[in-house]
Amino acid sequence: MTTEANPSEWILRPVTPEDAHGLYTLFEAMTQEGKAAFHPHPFDFATARAVARGEQIQGPVWVAVMGDWLGGYGFLAGWKHPWPSLGVNVDPKAQGQGLGTALVRQLLAVAREAGKAGVTLTVYQDNLAAVAVYRAVGFETTRALWVMELDFAERRFHTNVGPQAKEKGDLR
Ligand SMILES: CC(C)(COP(=O)(O)OP(=O)(O)OC[C@H]1O[C@@H](n2cnc3c(N)ncnc32)[C@H](O)[C@@H]1OP(=O)(O)O)[C@@H](O)C(=O)NCCC(=O)NCCS
Repeated sequence: MTTEANPSEWILRPVTPEDAHGLYTLFEAMTQEGKAAFHPHPFDFATARAVARGEQIQGPVWVAVMGDWLGGYGFLAGWKHPWPSLGVNVDPKAQGQGLGTALVRQLLAVAREAGKAGVTLTVYQDNLAAVAVYRAVGFETTRALWVMELDFAERRFHTNVGPQAKEKGDLR
């Protein structure tokens, strides 16, 4: 299987229950940095199965597949609201070649077609690849969210704050 990702060779489609293993393989391929930047849900198999079944995220979930490789997924959570919330995650081996942008553009089209007022998201300011993608498709920063921490061990900075950090016991 090639690890070269050409967005034109990827098929973007809504998630199906059969995508559980593909999603879990993607979860397993994520780097610690990726998990620190993107933590809408845990990354265990039960969650992969729930995402695939449409039980984890309250809104459309789209995947990018090439053969049996699930290279990325994105979603619009809070779908019942006029401004659903976008998230996207691409396999490190497929990053930097346009797939994240393609998934985001697809989700924006889904939201637009459904008559949504717009799409919102939150992103860490130091997640430069994500910020680049979001700016490229037209997102603008409207409000800043501060991550505040009080570290009892007197370590100065710790961004791995998602639920998976607690699960793995690496929340210091
Ligand atoms: C964010 C993410 C989805 C982007 O996916 P991707 O497939 O790599 O995205 P693309 O290839 O379409 O675009 C990446 C852009 O980031 C730019 N980029 C990458 N690293 C960068 C860096 N360190 N500094 C500045 N720009 C950077 C690339 O140059 C590219 O922009 P370009 O098309 O103008 O060259 C992917 O990096 C990812 O899954 N990260 C982990 C999960 C995550 O952070 N999700 C978002 C949470 S809000």
